[in-house]
Amino acid sequence: MAEKGRVCVTGAGGYIASWVVKLLLSKGYIVHGTVRDPSDEKNAHLKKLEKASENLKLFKADLLEYEALCSAFEGCDGVFHTASPVPPTTVANPEVELMEPAVKGTLNVLKACAEAKVKRVVVVSSGAAVDMNPRWPKGKVKDEACWSDKEYCRATKNWYCLSKTEAESAAFEYAQTSGLDVVTVCPTLVLGPILQSTINASSLVLIKILKGTVLTLYPIY
Ligand SMILES: NC(=O)c1ccc[n+]([C@@H]2O[C@H](COP(=O)([O-])OP(=O)(O)OC[C@H]3O[C@@H](n4cnc5c(N)ncnc54)[C@H](OP(=O)(O)O)[C@@H]3O)[C@@H](O)[C@H]2O)c1
Repeated sequence: MAEKGRVCVTGAGGYIASWVVKLLLSKGYIVHGTVRDPSDEKNAHLKKLEKASENLKLFKADLLEYEALCSAFEGCDGVFHTASPVPPTTVANPEVELMEPAVKGTLNVLKACAEAKVKRVVVVSSGAAVDMNPRWPKGKVKDEACWSDKEYCRATKNWYCLSKTEAESAAFEYAQTSGLDVVTVCPTLVLGPILQSTINASSLVLIKILKGTVLTLYPIY
């Protein structure tokens, strides 16, 4: 059968990415997936997906490793950039643990995509890049014009929201100057069946609610 197309998913072993990989495989795409450690048990579920043995190839790549990303994107028509840190609690060093992989990581992905002549990149941003805006008029629909207020995120120590806001705005800036076709999507809280063996932050929110735990942090989305 002729190849339908070749698509890469970054952070392939993550909660959302695993579903994207599964869907792409089921539609007949050849899928490249980047993971930080292909031999880690937490990525084992990927190899068990239908058609994975023939059509899924995993690449070892951290978001801060430009060359590794370039190898993963070679020959791909499209890239879904889903990898980004989503910590379940506060982090000790937001600059290193969140900002750098989210922002520099996204720019690395986009530059590597441009180099590999990828036709379209879907960047998974978040409602977190939209919603933290106390000056947005009450009741007005939050659309493409509404962005989280970076200073407000800093002041309230909402580092995850800041990381997603900075990453999405950097992605649009890069798209404008480079001409790369970049689309962003901003999901809110994503819940549902998990394919991976570990619990991700948004599923943990549901578990906490079911257990009656008080949510002290701004909800992850
Ligand atoms: N779940 C939600 O409710 C929700 C809502 C809106 C937006 N989003 C966005 O959707 C995307 C996926 O989220 P998720 O819920 O699926 O979270 P997840 O399961 O924690 O997946 C995050 C992925 O990012 C990877 N990653 C983190 N830092 C990395 C780095 N420095 N280099 C390479 N990979 C790195 C992780 O790899 P490791 O396994 O190696 O750590 C993991 O595969 C994120 O961009 C998130 O902001 C999620």
